[in-house]
Amino acid sequence: MRMRTIRNIVVLTGAGLSAESGIATFRGPGGLWEGHRVEDVCTPQALAHDPELVHRFYDARRAKLGEVEPNAAHRALARLDAEWRGGLLIVTQNVDDLHERAGARRMLHMHGALRSALCAACGDSVAWEGALAPETECPDCGTPALRPDIVFFGEMPYHMETIERALADADLFVSIGTSGAVYPAAGFVRTARYHGARTLELNLDPSAGSQWFGESRLGPAGTLVPEWVEQMLGGGPAI
Ligand code: APR
Repeated sequence: MRMRTIRNIVVLTGAGLSAESGIATFRGPGGLWEGHRVEDVCTPQALAHDPELVHRFYDARRAKLGEVEPNAAHRALARLDAEWRGGLLIVTQNVDDLHERAGARRMLHMHGALRSALCAACGDSVAWEGALAPETECPDCGTPALRPDIVFFGEMPYHMETIERALADADLFVSIGTSGAVYPAAGFVRTARYHGARTLELNLDPSAGSQWFGESRLGPAGTLVPEWVEQMLGGGPAI
């Protein structure tokens, strides 16, 4: 296949990107899903049956954001965002705010954000810092229906049209720090390939989707991402 010049890049990030900042990943030893059942805290049914538990789970994760900082991988992606002259979309599955605190702008949260609350009554998203309770009223409509602005299992991820369009236009798709266990994000590599993009994976361990990538580099994101960004911006053979 003839190699296309790389102009449009889509980067997908997962929990592994924030691991070196001190935020637990989901799967594997010490992972969030080792200590909690997904069905108890991350489904619409859980919110309906035990809202206090769901709020406590996300309140703790929201509070943790005050103790962590972006790491070298977030900073490198923010540099790519600032300096890459072609198209770029960073799609994160992460609900922390470390990409934006590092300075990334061309970025979307497909699984929602901890520092946001969603009103189940009027549908508005509002910036949110503190705890949530079942009786917390929406600042916009006054209904006690505020919930974490998190895409639960069984709900539709955000921004899918924009993401699908960017994948179709991508010359390079790069996946960083994700296990490839959760769809639709796990399928992005195949969509990008189908449209002719080159594909690169940067991850600590082989992922469920490693076989779909043209190249996989194994190691910590804090090392691999700055190296790759330097390659891209330095004009060298990026992949
Ligand atoms: N550098 C790079 N990769 C790392 C690092 C690191 N320092 N530490 C861990 N990893 C890798 C792990 O090897 C693993 O493959 O990051 C991946 C993390 O996988 P998961 O915990 O499954 O996280 P993620 O893929 O983001 O999960 C996807 O699952 O429960 C949902 O909605 C939640 O968005 C989340 C989705």
